[in-house]
Amino acid sequence: MTIIVTGGAGFIGSNFIFYMLKKHNNYRIICLDKLTYAGNLSTLASVMDNSNFRFVKEDICNREAVYKLFEEEKPDVVINFAAESHVDRSIENPSIFLQTNIMGTAVLMDACRKYGITRYHQVSTDEVYGDLPLDRPDLFFTENTPIHTSSPYSSSKAGADLLVLAYYRTYGLPVTISRCSNNYGPYHFPEKLIPLMIINALSDKSLPVYGKGVNVRDWLYVEDHCKAIDMIVHKGKVGEVYNVGGHNEMRNIDIVKMICKILNKPESLITYVTDRKGHDMRYAIDPTKINDELGWFPETKFVDGIQKTVQWYLDNRSWWETIINGEYQNYYKKMYNR
Ligand code: NAD
Ligand code: DAU
Repeated sequence: MTIIVTGGAGFIGSNFIFYMLKKHNNYRIICLDKLTYAGNLSTLASVMDNSNFRFVKEDICNREAVYKLFEEEKPDVVINFAAESHVDRSIENPSIFLQTNIMGTAVLMDACRKYGITRYHQVSTDEVYGDLPLDRPDLFFTENTPIHTSSPYSSSKAGADLLVLAYYRTYGLPVTISRCSNNYGPYHFPEKLIPLMIINALSDKSLPVYGKGVNVRDWLYVEDHCKAIDMIVHKGKVGEVYNVGGHNEMRNIDIVKMICKILNKPESLITYVTDRKGHDMRYAIDPTKINDELGWFPETKFVDGIQKTVQWYLDNRSWWETIINGEYQNYYKKMYNR
């Protein structure tokens, strides 16, 4: 089996490549990645010499280059992780989100139609459902919850999902979609909540919590997400959407306090800053469908996963120091010094 994994130099895509090369040692994996600010070739260093792996630096929006790759590799399966993924950046500059997340998805699916594949899988997000109120803990996102987006990021992901379902209905393209909750784990880019707080705490820098810190996210260890995608690609029904999440809702402030505790840093580092525009209050996944139909359940408990993650950032300083010493400094200043 030959699989094209787009966005494989980013957080979840790289973890997925490691998972797949280990689990299916006869699969060929081709990583197609533009290496934007969020993509990092050093992340893939441990698999670069693997004979079942190839890295191709390219933009998923470049139709000619994508078609050429399909001609060369004749993939059986395409799994699309490539995206602009940070909500705050989408609020500053929406257009690149529309370009990559929607137009790039269209190019990949056109290539799938032209050359023929057995499965196109779209890695989507629970953010397409919008948010839930804090005072209704009985409510969860199911696959039938209406699409109701808040940010340019989530709108672009929802646009892509609708296009994927249209290619299934109109052209019969064999597609599946997964909508996962917040991931955490190794190689998470330092602009996101958990790595940002770990890295700032390690340098005794202030920990910027948006608003009152009461927004709730449903956290899943990245390897559990990778396992879910592997199961959906192999056993999921064509044309279907699968929600992925493990009922692990937490308030942002509690996560930040937990990180302070693990690192033995004072909570006085916490600083409440201006809230994100249009900030979603609560995400919470109902994973009944993937539990019942595919037998997927998360394996890593948050208390263990967060310890492992903090330890990974302690053990891999050079990975994140290289990132935060580069262009990231300008982003950080612009974003947090206003
Ligand atoms: P990330 O930002 O860490 O990585 C994105 C990768 O895509 C990078 O390697 C980047 O170089 C690449 N990329 C961006 N634009 C590209 C383009 N035009 N052509 C080729 N490559 C391009 O993102 P992530 O957190 O790993 O998320 C991966 C996917 O999972 C995204 O589609 C995201 O919407 C989805 N998702 C993320 C989460 C989460 O918690 N991080 C949860 C649910 C779903
Ligand atoms: O739910 C899935 C989504 O999770 C994915 O689709 C996105 O790609 C991914 O980035 C993530 O989106 P969030 O906006 O939930 O993640 P982020 O890490 O940016 O923020 C998590 C929460 O923490 C959110 O409520 C905002 C808050 N936050 C974030 C940062 C970066 C802070 O309070 N301070 C910060 O500095």
